[in-house]
Amino acid sequence: MFPSFRSILLCFNLICAASAREAELRMSADEGAAGEAVRGTRWAVLVAGSSGFGNYRHQADVCHAYHLLRKGGLKEENIVVFMYDDLAYSAHNPRPGVLINHPSGDDVYAGVPKDYTGKHVTAKNLYAVLLGDKNAVLGGSGKVVDSKPNDRIFIYYTDHGGPGVLGMPNMPFIYAADFINVLKKKHESNGYKEMVIYVEACESGTIFEGILPNDLDIYVTTASNANESSWGVYCPGMDPSPPPGYLTCLGDLFSVSWMEDSERHNLKKETIGKQYERVKKRTLNVKKLDEGSHVMYYGNKSIKTEKLYLYQGFDLSNANVSDNTLATSIGASEVVSQRHADLLFLWKLYGRLEDSSKKKAEILNEIKDTVKHRQHLDSSIDFIGKLIFGVLKGPSIIRNVRPSGLALVDDWHCLKAMVHIFETHCGALSQYGMKHMRAFANICNNGISKEAMEGASVSACGGYNSARWSPLTHGYSA
Ligand SMILES: *[C@@H]1O[C@H](CO)[C@@H](O)[C@H](O)[C@H]1NC(C)=O
Ligand SMILES: *[C@@H]1O[C@H](CO)[C@@H](O)[C@H](O)[C@H]1NC(C)=O
Ligand SMILES: *[C@@H]1O[C@H](CO)[C@@H](O)[C@H](O)[C@H]1NC(C)=O
Repeated sequence: MFPSFRSILLCFNLICAASAREAELRMSADEGAAGEAVRGTRWAVLVAGSSGFGNYRHQADVCHAYHLLRKGGLKEENIVVFMYDDLAYSAHNPRPGVLINHPSGDDVYAGVPKDYTGKHVTAKNLYAVLLGDKNAVLGGSGKVVDSKPNDRIFIYYTDHGGPGVLGMPNMPFIYAADFINVLKKKHESNGYKEMVIYVEACESGTIFEGILPNDLDIYVTTASNANESSWGVYCPGMDPSPPPGYLTCLGDLFSVSWMEDSERHNLKKETIGKQYERVKKRTLNVKKLDEGSHVMYYGNKSIKTEKLYLYQGFDLSNANVSDNTLATSIGASEVVSQRHADLLFLWKLYGRLEDSSKKKAEILNEIKDTVKHRQHLDSSIDFIGKLIFGVLKGPSIIRNVRPSGLALVDDWHCLKAMVHIFETHCGALSQYGMKHMRAFANICNNGISKEAMEGASVSACGGYNSARWSPLTHGYSA
């Protein structure tokens, strides 16, 4: 590439401290492949929706993404980070103050701004941040996406999910319809030129399938389709495994796939569509049957032809890199379903503790309690389905998956109401129970009344002692 006319002019007209080459490189960092300048600002919102050491990977993903974008030239003031921030100095962390997102990775924790941490990581704050509404934000740094019509916005979310919902460490969950409404409002207010959203969660396809309009200038990629889990990777006892001492997974398969892809390509040449193809291949994990997911896209697909640097920036040190080996060489990662990753952590912790120690007994109790509540959720949902739809048809009706293109549920208020009724009588859905959201959706889609749901929930769960899982302790998920 020849130095642009502008950069030569700069050099000869001004007292030029930098060499012509440096000036050219600096300028080209802000220009498109065709030489056109990037007008507007690049914004990013990064969200880790979980807390707890068993969920280490989500916050590690987000911290990694932050540094990737900074290396790409996005400014700290334009990146808003949501993370619970309970890991770096956790007693379980073998490297205090350090988080890694790859077995041989460097620290990704240092330098990440603590915009919204702890109890301020909420769906409400996320919506306010996206809308640029400083007054609606509660706590945190107050940083919001104060974007203009020419700006581009990149959103990256990673955590547990279920049909129609994305988790948050503080209740309630993010409901798809609420999130899409925020995007519509942002579009109506002319708050951006184009937006790209990457979402890692189980059943993340349901957040957009049949609900995201194509005319919002938004392109979305999700880790999984509407009916499958997403996967944790770099997990203890698996290949590739974390360094000794780590009892938890370091990353999520879709997430590390896109980030490691971005770090191995020139993002001025690489299109969003190309990244989608490669990430899809690696996340499918074909060499491990049934241990991978189908990466999907939604929204305006013509955005796929755009170059990645418009959203993720451009790191000069990757200018000459084009490494396509990742997808094939790591197409056989050992992974663990997101829904089992927290139990894996507890079991590893249990295994490491000294026999007959008090702590070991505590962990065993926690495992038992967790497994028991999971079984309680599974069986009470099944029972409610049978009470409402009959013993023969119940199970198939509540598990029914609608054809692609149709939204999970027609009436999202109904969905929330049904979840509320269930949690009142049966205890919190919790991270694991999100997988049953489809049952509530099908109850709504079949026109079942709230009274009928109430009756069935009382019959199924009346007398369930859910002290630890009471929604009164942590709030309702809806
Ligand atoms: C999709 O994006 C392209 C490129 O920005 C635009 O020309 C087209 O109108 C968009 N499609 C819709 C349905 O909005
Ligand atoms: C949904 O997933 C379940 C479990 O993986 C599977 O048995 C079922 O066939 C899937 N349904 C559809 C319509 O894809
Ligand atoms: C990339 O390659 C070009 C041409 O070979 C070279 O001039 C340039 O210094 C390289 N850039 C980097 C950052 O390695």
